[in-house]
Amino acid sequence: MTDTIPQDRVLIFDTTLRDGEQSPGATMTHDEKLEIAEMLDDMGVDIIEAGFPIASEGDFRAVSEIAQRSKNAVICGLARANPTDIDRAWEAVKHSKRPRIHTFIGTSPLHRQIPNLTMDEMAERIHDTVTQARNLCDNVQWSPMDATRTEWDYLKRVVEIAIKAGASTINIPDTVGYTAPAESADLIRRLIAEVPGADAVVFATHCHNDLGLATANSLAAVAGGARQIECTINGLGERAGNTALEEVVMALKTRHDIMPWSTGVDTTKIMAISRRVATVSGFPVQFNKAIVGKNAFAHESGIHQDGMLKNRENFEIMRPEDIGLAASSLPLGKHSGRAALRDKLKTLGFDLADNQLKDVFVRFKDLADRKKEVFDDDIIALMRISEDAAHDRLQLKSLAVTCGTAGPAEATIVMEIDGEEKTATMQGDGPVDASFKAVRALHASDSQLQLYQVHAVTEGTDAQATVSVRLEEGGNIATGQSADTDTVVASVKAYIHALNRLLVRRGKLGQDVKEVNYRDVG
Ligand code: KIV
Ligand code: ZN
Repeated sequence: MTDTIPQDRVLIFDTTLRDGEQSPGATMTHDEKLEIAEMLDDMGVDIIEAGFPIASEGDFRAVSEIAQRSKNAVICGLARANPTDIDRAWEAVKHSKRPRIHTFIGTSPLHRQIPNLTMDEMAERIHDTVTQARNLCDNVQWSPMDATRTEWDYLKRVVEIAIKAGASTINIPDTVGYTAPAESADLIRRLIAEVPGADAVVFATHCHNDLGLATANSLAAVAGGARQIECTINGLGERAGNTALEEVVMALKTRHDIMPWSTGVDTTKIMAISRRVATVSGFPVQFNKAIVGKNAFAHESGIHQDGMLKNRENFEIMRPEDIGLAASSLPLGKHSGRAALRDKLKTLGFDLADNQLKDVFVRFKDLADRKKEVFDDDIIALMRISEDAAHDRLQLKSLAVTCGTAGPAEATIVMEIDGEEKTATMQGDGPVDASFKAVRALHASDSQLQLYQVHAVTEGTDAQATVSVRLEEGGNIATGQSADTDTVVASVKAYIHALNRLLVRRGKLGQDVKEVNYRDVG
């Protein structure tokens, strides 16, 4: 398939499951990946980059299954510039109705040093690998990684080689988030004008957000002639992340007057997928994030509230309904039943089977007994509690803490470890420190704490605290999350959640995961 598209349309290429999942700590389970892929397909994303099949058995299986289940979207697998990667990517995507192979190599002076290839040798490698991919699949995307720091003449040369070898999409990545909007537009415009054969392919833009310019750069690239934007839900991705899907799609919709390009995305599905990705990736959305942040449609000051009551457009340029946010919310409390909870969960992006709903309902009732009103964010926090907690090897049974001004804090913890109940008491520098020490007394771990973050998700002293804990152990990173009206309990549960995730990862690595160095293109 050649992606010839009308000039007033922009293809949306979502890479949440590949570049997004590369964020340290954002690893998703197999089932979570399938679920996100289905949501992306249903919302009208044109191309889903489902993973990097050579990276691990798990990635391969996820890409293959997504390919087999896909409905409308093109399913793409990433491959470095070598025959093994490309064969593996093809094996994974070939059962899709619309498969694509995406192969890349770093073309900038710095990146050329990694495989230690001369310019000519790299040009030959590009010709050979794109040709190989094209012999397998008629939809091939090629990317010169670090394109924005590649010498102009060399970039033109290699783009031309890739087009001649059969690539139908040329993606120009700003891998290190270095470019500025005017340059982004200019780069695409000049490539289209000067590279022979450029008018027969689709140019794509793939921007990282190191300077906070990813969305601006992507839209500028479209103004320069790009017709595919690569992006992720919530802007998930390496370092500061990627262009956020919701930002480009809503910017194109809201400012159609000056950016007359449309997408096929059903924007009313944005909020649900944003919340789901935040839950499964363990990366909460910052409160003031454009479009999908908790405060994006909240008005606090008297002047703004007054203005809103007179005319919503005084302070809102988009309608909350356009992204699937209910304008008014149905408050839930201890008298609410299962049907109301199910309905609420659905609007928040959680479609649960009956047995899952049963568990959540018990937790919801427990919370409603302790809180006057249960807000949407309380429910989301509740859902973040490990959905497979029942299978976790480490389980918290009880926690009792004494702390205050008198002396060191002391925590007594009871945990079930592989089915056996164990107790420990430890002192520490504050209740959280004492509790974490007690957990470690029962389950020895070399993991280092990389992040400990507490959010109050709703207002009031009875607000639930959501705690995120990120641990690192021998290069593996795992993020745990939990929520509770008691911050110390939430902290311990999040810590145990992260330890459980590390155990799963350790188990997987032992069995089947062959890590590859992503930058090693040799
Ligand atoms: O940022 C980047 O260059 C990438 C490539 C693999 C396209 O993610
Ligand atoms: Zn990237």
